[in-house]
Amino acid sequence: MTDTGGAQVRLDAREKVTGAALYGADRVPPGLVHAAFATATIARGRIVTIDVSGAEAVPGVLFAVTRFGEDELGPASFVMGGGYGTQGLQPLSHDRIAHRGQPIALVLAETPVAAAHAAELITATYEEEPFACDVDAPGAQTLLQREAIPIPFADDVVVGDADDALASSAVRVDAVYEHPSQNATPLELLSAVVQWHGDRLVVHEGTQNAGALRHGLARQLGLDPAQVEVRSPYLGGGFGQRNAQQPYLAPLALAARRAGRPVKLVLTRTQTFHQASFRPQTRHRVILGADASGRMTAAVHEVDQQTSRHDLFPAGYAKVTSRLYGIPAFRSRQRLVRNDVQTPGYMRAPFEQPGVWAFESAVDELATELRLDPLALRLANDTTHDPVSGLPFSSRHLGECLRRGAERFGWERRPLDPGTWTDADGHRIGWGVAVGAYPANVTPARARITVAGGGSVVVRTDGHEMGQGMSSAVAALVSSQLSIPASRIRVELGDTRVGAQPLTAGSWGTASTLPAVEAALTELRRVLGGRDLASAEGLSAEADNGLPAALADRAAQGLVAAAGPVYGDFAAFSFIAHFVEVRVERHTGRIRVPRVLSVADCGRVANRVTAAGQVRGGVVWGLGAALREHLVVDPRLGGFLNATLEEYPISVNADIGHIDVDFVDRPDPLLNASGVKGLGEVAMVGVAAAVTNAVFHATGYRARRLPVTMADV
Ligand code: MOS
Repeated sequence: MTDTGGAQVRLDAREKVTGAALYGADRVPPGLVHAAFATATIARGRIVTIDVSGAEAVPGVLFAVTRFGEDELGPASFVMGGGYGTQGLQPLSHDRIAHRGQPIALVLAETPVAAAHAAELITATYEEEPFACDVDAPGAQTLLQREAIPIPFADDVVVGDADDALASSAVRVDAVYEHPSQNATPLELLSAVVQWHGDRLVVHEGTQNAGALRHGLARQLGLDPAQVEVRSPYLGGGFGQRNAQQPYLAPLALAARRAGRPVKLVLTRTQTFHQASFRPQTRHRVILGADASGRMTAAVHEVDQQTSRHDLFPAGYAKVTSRLYGIPAFRSRQRLVRNDVQTPGYMRAPFEQPGVWAFESAVDELATELRLDPLALRLANDTTHDPVSGLPFSSRHLGECLRRGAERFGWERRPLDPGTWTDADGHRIGWGVAVGAYPANVTPARARITVAGGGSVVVRTDGHEMGQGMSSAVAALVSSQLSIPASRIRVELGDTRVGAQPLTAGSWGTASTLPAVEAALTELRRVLGGRDLASAEGLSAEADNGLPAALADRAAQGLVAAAGPVYGDFAAFSFIAHFVEVRVERHTGRIRVPRVLSVADCGRVANRVTAAGQVRGGVVWGLGAALREHLVVDPRLGGFLNATLEEYPISVNADIGHIDVDFVDRPDPLLNASGVKGLGEVAMVGVAAAVTNAVFHATGYRARRLPVTMADV
């Protein structure tokens, strides 16, 4: 590999493999003290008394706080309600308990052990109220989303008259699919180090949204945003769980001010399950109509989605299911169900994973009804135009993903009828296919490139490195355009000192940041005027990615500011096709997945190494969703029974077979100058459906509830 080509590898690989990479809360400023939370043992009610005397008697404890005054701690604001927080409920500011595991006291101590021990000694008495923690629980309150959140983002998708078209369709499928709630379980526990320097607050936290933390803290603590600095060098997994200000952060800052020392908090794994955002439980009803040849004529997608009592987390399931095929009539109806839980949120492919699992299961059921090959049915309903906006897709190579994948997988060898194929050991074989899509959104970004000594450059830009390879993609671009090796490129991001750092999420990171860097490179070449880099030390060039000023203004205030997926004259989505082989063991019914092939259309592939890694990661998540992951509500106490990694199984190496990844790799001609679309989330969209479709092919068992277990087959 040439020196320049070296930029195609992961820039941070060595640091990560050697353990040299410092994550947010790995900072140890002098005088650091440690914080821990005592948490509510009820799901709903009111705190009557709290006793912290036992905690304060523990050697090394500085103090315990149960309540901050209104004058020092302002209300939290929910990121999807125009604010900054993972939820709009601020613990330690009132006596209400809204969910099991809500913090009721914060302890500061000289060591993490003393803090944790002291927190356990804190006791409380409560006035309990009945709670509802799942969509069917008595007392859960159901709202029609388009009425409860009257903004375009929360609208239903309506194209043509789906009910009328269904009434006259030759073949129909009508089925209900249940998707459980799940937790993103990033390996790096939610954590932060906060430190005051006079009246300036510095926050070290692995976050996808340093800008929101800055502005959210400023608003809650009555500071000027310029007084708050947030540094997020790496994330040990974000997956949406780190996309806004956590409820612990403002109390932590106040405790640090009271102590006059920097403070570190690491939530326990169980607290992460009970305090962090999670994928809400959903129920999907999908109705499909088709003519006898397999041309789909109408679809209905109705969803009930869990939310909290205190926030409305908007459901967006039909945005993608309405774009998978060229179906001329489509109707969604999205409802929200209020539960006594912390506010759910975005978890990798938040709507697309559950929604497409349900929809692509129904498409498979339609193929069975029609006695058609499920691949042929999908190809027959492909489209070049977005049926919702009527606009052309900026690029759509889903048909090519399917055809190329089928050839590579050997699809023609697949028998049509389910339950007819066994291997030499008598294990049943099944092959399944499913497609996925994900909106191509973009957010404002700026980049500044400065020439440093010896012909090296420093790139300061917006975006967060959460393991997806953002800094590697930036380095690959700069390396190829300036013809310098990656070793002479330093990329700084995720830091409010070098940019506004709006939310990195929705798979828009690379597609937002690269065009800004590309524009800054053009500007740099202009100011260089043919001079050599080595002779231009100190020169710098700056540019943004050209989004409208109104959006850039929102981004500068730390607010969610995304454009797309429908633009002026096109609609932009990434696409993928997955092919899955399962073996269902003869005596045990254990489901193994020896082989997955995924072919993605993400525009130009910005960095093959990190891109393939993103797809493999997404596939592993899809396997987990299909076969392992689900949160179980504790019927006695609320919250979740399986709030540990022992009892919330995610995919491990033994669950993962061979994952083959291929790309169409054709630049998107319209979305941006770099020709890239998002990849991180589309990677997992459709995987679970391909698995359960394969299980159906192996056994004849149609999964309408996840995960599928041995007991089901
Ligand atoms: Mo991601 S779930 O879009 O933060």
